[in-house]
Amino acid sequence: MFNRPARLETQAPEPAIPLAEPVIGGNEWAYVKECLDSGWVSTAGAFVGRFEAEFAKYLGSEHAVAAASGTAALHVALLAAGVRPDDEVLMPSFTFIAPANAVRYAGAWPVFVDAEPRAWQMDVALTADFLTRQCRWSGGALRNPRSGRRIGAILAVHVLGHPVDLDPLLEVAEKYDIPLIEDAAESLGATYGGRYAGRFGRLACFSFNGNKVMTTGGGGMVATDDAALAERVRYLATTAKDDADEGIHGQVGFNYRLTNIQAAMGCAQLERLEEFLAAKRRIAARYAEGLAGLPGLTLMPEEPWAKSAFWLYSIRIDPAQAPCDSRELRARLSAAGIASRHFWQPLHLSPAHAGAEFLGGGVAERLHGEVLSLPCSAGLSEAAQARVIAALRAGLAS
Ligand SMILES: Cc1ncc(COP(=O)(O)O)c(C=O)c1O
Repeated sequence: MFNRPARLETQAPEPAIPLAEPVIGGNEWAYVKECLDSGWVSTAGAFVGRFEAEFAKYLGSEHAVAAASGTAALHVALLAAGVRPDDEVLMPSFTFIAPANAVRYAGAWPVFVDAEPRAWQMDVALTADFLTRQCRWSGGALRNPRSGRRIGAILAVHVLGHPVDLDPLLEVAEKYDIPLIEDAAESLGATYGGRYAGRFGRLACFSFNGNKVMTTGGGGMVATDDAALAERVRYLATTAKDDADEGIHGQVGFNYRLTNIQAAMGCAQLERLEEFLAAKRRIAARYAEGLAGLPGLTLMPEEPWAKSAFWLYSIRIDPAQAPCDSRELRARLSAAGIASRHFWQPLHLSPAHAGAEFLGGGVAERLHGEVLSLPCSAGLSEAAQARVIAALRAGLAS
């Protein structure tokens, strides 16, 4: 026997478990190298068109236009849909802030709708009630009687990977000819009644930020079946170029195009999207099994008409029934080297959107207090997930 150095006798700390990190191990290196070798590194380059075509094929849409980010995609989609300055756009309060910011970039105002407690999505009954019973038709448009503003669009955000109940929204949007835009940034690969989220609105937007189901580092996409809308999105995102040779721009546009390098990465990630989605579902199933029966814990919901992409697997902790609340549980997980996250300050309470109208009340605030997102990278190993489950069981045991 030999004497071990003292520092080896203490157990090495277990590695930290992040919330959601990308899985990069396919053709990313090869495709990006191809870009660098060819010198086509900017927004003109073969991978951009290829990524758009392959994305449209995956989704089943007629057109897809790549953008620099999901937020940029939302901004130009809102403009292409005809949202004008001083319009109002109905959208959920319980979401990441990007879609509300995009509404403001377009010069319009968000009207925030509370969440429903079953699937944590925009309350479609409240939305339909507001449009059918409270709004008034005047001056050729449906208007909010309190502000006098035109309702310019419904922005349906599919939150955390789960689709919104779209049929009632589509019905009311059609009735009043209001464009419905889907924000599927968090829900690529989710389905509603068997069809992909992003196949229902006039336009749909996606994000390829590093924490999303698939990533290009940063990037976005607008999908639509309408050729004119796709052309309008492309025009606005490419500095509204009327004549490239003469350098003539028809209006103030935006430099919102995705680069060839990012698109190269997108092509490689798209090849593995089904694999990532299957991994997400396995992770969700293991959490459901491992966390069943814990007091005060509600598993991430999935409606019978939906197939969630389980982008960020999240649980809800009812402080009246659980031994600790979500903030204390997060601290306990953090002490065990496990990342988790609260989602989000309801936007009707956000200083960034102070003064916006809010429909409903109570649900989004409770979700903000009680929802906790857990590690769920597509590459999360069974052993690492078992550690998360054990820490949660221990954290909720006392
Ligand atoms: C619902 C939602 N919409 C839009 C965005 C914006 O996407 P990006 O970060 O690519 O601008 C995000 C996240 O980042 C999001 O979660």
